[in-house]
Amino acid sequence: MDLIHTVAELRARLKGEQSVVLVPTMGNLHAGHLALVTEAGKHGRCVVASIFVNRLQFEPGGDFDRYPRTLADDCAKLERAGCHVVFAPDEGELYPEPQEIFVTPPKLAGQLCGDFRPGHFQGVVTVVAKLFNIVAPHTAVFGRKDYQQLAVIRALARQLNYPVSIVGVDTVREPDGLAMSSRNGYLSSEERTEAVRLGQNLRRIKALAEGGSRDFDALCAFAIKDLTDAGWRVDYVAVRNQSGLAVPGPGDRDLVVLGAAWLGRTRLIDNVEFRA
Ligand code: PAF
Repeated sequence: MDLIHTVAELRARLKGEQSVVLVPTMGNLHAGHLALVTEAGKHGRCVVASIFVNRLQFEPGGDFDRYPRTLADDCAKLERAGCHVVFAPDEGELYPEPQEIFVTPPKLAGQLCGDFRPGHFQGVVTVVAKLFNIVAPHTAVFGRKDYQQLAVIRALARQLNYPVSIVGVDTVREPDGLAMSSRNGYLSSEERTEAVRLGQNLRRIKALAEGGSRDFDALCAFAIKDLTDAGWRVDYVAVRNQSGLAVPGPGDRDLVVLGAAWLGRTRLIDNVEFRA
């Protein structure tokens, strides 16, 4: 496995590679990321994982400074998972001058997490567009835990005509159901025990909806109350259609319930797809 820090060296390394698959990450890798690498290996011969903590997608006062940087550990995990190239630029390499050109995210980014993290999706699509331009992958792999991000990136690839297939990979969960996340490491041991409540509420909404309830507002309000009563600060719990993350109409059957909430200083997100 090659560890590369500059755009020029990466381009030289990838010259002549016919089937490059990109797995963009911010590092501090867990089993969820490694599942992305395993999936990437099914789609091409050269798997490139990028590791870059992208300042542009953190809101002021967010966790950019404390986001864990664990490059050596990440590289060991990536090598074992079958990655071929790690691209780990520093900020000066990816943003050699102040970034003045941004990609405007699509409308579907202006809700859910977009309501609570101003500028976040603009930062995500801008760095992902840069990575697509640098790596020129034919496939890129993202986790379905960041459900709205995946939808935004699919729109980026479609609307800006990137010749990239976007592959989504199912969320990897801890044995108690907690979605794996780099931010789980911020949780105290009491918070870690409590953290399962978000996913439990989403799964309860799925079960009730599958059982025939279509009063999604009431189902979500119940979940928000349960979380709030247990000490969480809820950003949102919402049901949307899978196709465009719109509020479901009567004909929408393929749905997803998404939630984002704070437990102490840690913001957790999760989602569950269902058909009802
Ligand atoms: O999902 C992430 O880790 C980040 O948002 C991404 C896609 C690597 C862009 O910085």
